[in-house]
Amino acid sequence: MQKTLVLIKPDAFGKNHSGDIIKLYEDAGFKVVAAKVMRMTPELAAKHYVEHIGRPYYSALVEFMTSAPLMALVLAGDDVIKRVRELNGATNPAEASEGTVRKLYAEDKTKNAVHASDSEASAAREIPIFFSACEMFD
Ligand code: CDP
Ligand code: MG
Repeated sequence: MQKTLVLIKPDAFGKNHSGDIIKLYEDAGFKVVAAKVMRMTPELAAKHYVEHIGRPYYSALVEFMTSAPLMALVLAGDDVIKRVRELNGATNPAEASEGTVRKLYAEDKTKNAVHASDSEASAAREIPIFFSACEMFD
């Protein structure tokens, strides 16, 4: 079964939208196979967002992601990587479609409620940053 990493970012987690967001994924047929509440460290952020190091928004992104707890999830299901990206909507909530997580819950381009892996290679790289095999049940 295909798997993807989702982070319910500190903005959405702090506003108690985790349940609403997980319901969207579950209603679409996906299974939560791992979950935890945690606080990102700068080291973890650098590992997770390695391809963004040096971009103009990088320091604001790390400051935001390390500012408060978040919820990390692994979701499983058919075509889950592409489908969860669709359910999340565009990176910039101003461009996100009606009914998407980012349209419903994101504040701006940085505080945009959720992360989801963008490819099979990204999911395979990102999931072990947050979870060990014994923390996943499927
Ligand atoms: O999260 P997604 O894959 O949709 O977007 P990305 O291009 O991989 O960027 C990763 C994250 O960096 C975004 O989700 C935003 O939180 C942040 N970002 C930002 O603050 N400003 C930008 N111009 C682009 C990205
Ligand atoms: Mg991305």
